[in-house]
Amino acid sequence: MADGQSIKVLGISGSLRRGSFNSAALRAAQELAPAGMAVEIYQGLRDIPPYDDDLRQGQGFPTPAADLRARIKAADALLIVTPEYNYSVPGVLKNAIDWASRPPEQPFDGKPIAIMGASPGALGTARAQYHLRQIFVFLNGMVLNRPEVMIAQAGGRFDAEGRLTDAKTREFVGALLVALKEWTERLRR
Ligand SMILES: Cc1cc2nc3c(=O)[nH]c(=O)nc-3n(C[C@H](O)[C@H](O)[C@H](O)COP(=O)(O)O)c2cc1C
Repeated sequence: MADGQSIKVLGISGSLRRGSFNSAALRAAQELAPAGMAVEIYQGLRDIPPYDDDLRQGQGFPTPAADLRARIKAADALLIVTPEYNYSVPGVLKNAIDWASRPPEQPFDGKPIAIMGASPGALGTARAQYHLRQIFVFLNGMVLNRPEVMIAQAGGRFDAEGRLTDAKTREFVGALLVALKEWTERLRR
């Protein structure tokens, strides 16, 4: 991000499901990004193999994992949209983070990160989000504290085409992106 250039955000949804609320929330974030910010949606989660340290040590990073690492490195900031599975982060998302996190030059170090999530339940992925924050303590990701965007009862907030229709939720998502922009600029100074 050189002065005057748009902030590049890599958006990662932790769901592989076609009708995913979290992927839908990420698409809404892409639309709601403020001027001076562009959100690219990561599409490679399904291609990342199960983590195997023998593979990494023997043959190096598999191409999908190397690609994810390069995308994270190239991004000015990350937006991670996580479902909640059994009170935590889905395995596919954790697996991708595990691959990306291995040396050399682990790409989360110092990276501005915003987190949000959507669930049909009442807590809107709160527990998964706090686990994700804990993961980034170890990886020294610079996770934005506030606003926290926990989209509860998601079934009523998206239409059948996966568009985020709830006005209040759109406002929250927009506010998160504005805060991520300021956070990214602040960390650059
Ligand atoms: C294995 C599994 C575990 C789940 N555990 C939780 C949970 O702990 N809390 C919660 O609110 N929803 C839970 N759910 C429901 C998910 O929030 C729901 O399936 C949601 O739609 C997943 O996100 P997506 O729409 O982006 O795929 C679980 C779903 C699955 C498949």
